[in-house]
Amino acid sequence: MTAPVRNIPRHIAIIMDGNGRWAKQRLQPRFMGHRAGVRAVEGVVKHCAASGVEVLSLFAFSSENWRRPSKEVDLLMELFSHALDNQVQRLHQNNIRLQVIGDISRFSSTLQNKIAEAQNLTRHNSGLLINVAANYGGRWDITQAVNQLMAEVAAGKRAAGPVSEADIESCLVTASIPAPDLFIRTGGEQRISNFLIWQLAYTELYFTDTLWPEFNAKALEHAIEWYGQRERRFGRTSEQVQEQSDA
Ligand code: IPE
Ligand code: IPE
Ligand code: MG
Repeated sequence: MTAPVRNIPRHIAIIMDGNGRWAKQRLQPRFMGHRAGVRAVEGVVKHCAASGVEVLSLFAFSSENWRRPSKEVDLLMELFSHALDNQVQRLHQNNIRLQVIGDISRFSSTLQNKIAEAQNLTRHNSGLLINVAANYGGRWDITQAVNQLMAEVAAGKRAAGPVSEADIESCLVTASIPAPDLFIRTGGEQRISNFLIWQLAYTELYFTDTLWPEFNAKALEHAIEWYGQRERRFGRTSEQVQEQSDA
């Protein structure tokens, strides 16, 4: 008898929440939580790459996170910049492709350049694709997609008239990437916080109280096992899905 095939999600999207509370529990400044959060990313990336996950989307900084105290925003930018300095070579050696999704025009030119370099260096890699969502918002994503379509009409490259779901999808920052199969939010909140709102339409949603700095390979494995138990019906009946999988 062959071992049952494990049902591995092709695309995992994660809201890495709970860094601040993790630090607070330890009577440390929030910054220490964010630092510990970066270390947790390394473990999760390793486990995804080893498990054959194709795409990992990580919410690093939302379009609403600018509302935080400027000191915390500055520290987050610094951490992002350092993480690029320290991690990109290793990602590249491991055949991992890095892509930043979000409106990076608001970042310093130094950070924008580092992002461009990292994307350039890793763009031909064929292993795990990591989407780092930075200054990302799902509403921004849909809006920029619609604006692209309108610009095409204005330039005479597209006929005026109704647009289809496929048209919008082709202009989202995740165009050509399969939608997330598994969404994970750490830190106990049960909300989407303007992450990939279009793309999550049929994603399995997993919420855990574990704070992000404590989310390790074992915790990820737990989420993947949970995903394996889901029946994804996409509007069909359970019987139809069973028939299909028996065929
Ligand atoms: C998530 O952790 C990291 C970012 C939003 C950058 P938080 O900083 O939101 O941590 P909590 O929710 O305050 O614990
Ligand atoms: C969502 O976390 C954004 C990131 C993890 C980057 P927040 O902690 O900012 O979310 P809300 O504001 O509590 O919903
Ligand atoms: Mg939070």
